[in-house]
Amino acid sequence: MERYKDKKWQESMRITFDFNNMMKEFIGEDQGIGRDDIKNMEEKTQDAINALKEMRASGNMVWADLPYTQEDVVAEILDTAKDIKKKFDAFVVLGIGGSALGPIAAQQALNHLRYNELSKAERGGYPRLYVLDNIDPEGINALFDVIDIEKTVFNVITKSGSTSETMSQFLIIRDLLKKKLGDSYKDHIIATTDRSKGNLIKIARDEGLKLFYIPDGVGGRFSELCPVGLLPAAVCGIDIKQMLAGAAFMDECSKEENIFKNGPYMAATLQYIAFRDGKNISVMMPYADSLKFMADWYAQLWAESLGKKMDRDGNLIYTGQTPVKALGVTDQHSQIQLYAEGPFDKVITFLTVDKYKSKVDIPHGYKDIPAVSFLGGHSLNDLIKAEGLATEYALLKAEKLNRTINLPEVNEFTLGQLLYFLELETAFMGELLNINAFDQPGVEEGKNATYALMGRPGYEGKKAELDNRPKKRDEYII
Ligand code: PA5
Repeated sequence: MERYKDKKWQESMRITFDFNNMMKEFIGEDQGIGRDDIKNMEEKTQDAINALKEMRASGNMVWADLPYTQEDVVAEILDTAKDIKKKFDAFVVLGIGGSALGPIAAQQALNHLRYNELSKAERGGYPRLYVLDNIDPEGINALFDVIDIEKTVFNVITKSGSTSETMSQFLIIRDLLKKKLGDSYKDHIIATTDRSKGNLIKIARDEGLKLFYIPDGVGGRFSELCPVGLLPAAVCGIDIKQMLAGAAFMDECSKEENIFKNGPYMAATLQYIAFRDGKNISVMMPYADSLKFMADWYAQLWAESLGKKMDRDGNLIYTGQTPVKALGVTDQHSQIQLYAEGPFDKVITFLTVDKYKSKVDIPHGYKDIPAVSFLGGHSLNDLIKAEGLATEYALLKAEKLNRTINLPEVNEFTLGQLLYFLELETAFMGELLNINAFDQPGVEEGKNATYALMGRPGYEGKKAELDNRPKKRDEYII
């Protein structure tokens, strides 16, 4: 039996949410949150619990069921990954936003931190992974300098099947492949998209490209646990069944209606109270290089889901907490000064890890210089933990709200839990704010303006609107 199916092992890998430093008892009367504040939210939190339950029961929270509904898809992904491993040296994701940030975060968390620099044998025979999530011409040409497209498979991922950035990349790659390989260009492209909407699905079907589907009702930023994230992960040897098992475990842990026993719901409730009290910024600060890009993934999830102009009743509310990415310990030397002594406008979420994959001892040296020699005999593991604790303490002393999500270790099971925890927290926060956390009208406006500027048919009206925008004044450009 795989160890992740063992209940005892699962319990030993449970991630925890520590909110002591959000509370009045610790952070002080002025800034802290009281148990009464949480109690006073009871009606609202119960409404949110009921709303999510109803949404899920009526089939409108498809992302929440992904850990349970993909047996066949997972089997197909694993077969495809096996085939890719045999034939290719590199796997390139073409995608942006929700179609890119999850694959980047999972790869960084679960594979070697210098994965692409390892030899093929050191990578266990798996291909290198690149995620092309920008359209800077220098970026794409730089990639072509380090891959052999004849030994590369490109996974074009777009839910809408029409995002300009991704479709441009697709056109460029397809053209190059066709010129080099003729009709067998098809063997080098896999499309991941909506089953019925958009242009990519039509193209993929017409041209006979290998296809994976993004299930209906799963938005980009909630899609890491479907083929969007699972295929790139499996291609690089990540155990995707274990990742899904971790997500399912967190789902089970979050069934409790008493929010004092429900991590994601309590996390959202505290953020809601803090936000109401002026904490407009949510910082995520992992103390692990492996979790560095979880902060990027979270930033999109939190920003795009919760940054909304209207509530569900059509009132203008201009809501949303601004996410900020930081990395422990690196950003102790860039941002912590502001967090400790600056305004009381933030909640800082630390991601901590009990057991790192490596241990590095610090050797003894310079016995005659006590201010250096005290480090000898410890390990970098001791040091990073001490620095995390020290930062937490400094913020506590400064009465700055902070909380900690701890992972016993970073593996597929704990990452699955973490992804699911943050998705559920975001969905719950959306309910508390009475907004639709699953749309992104602000992003659509920019996408539509791009179509108009680039001459997409059907966007002539938008083009006229853009042409009529106020002309910039030269005197303001100096
Ligand atoms: O979360 C979202 O829906 C967005 O960030 C999308 O992922 C992003 O805009 C890319 O869209 P698409 O997957 O349709 O190309």
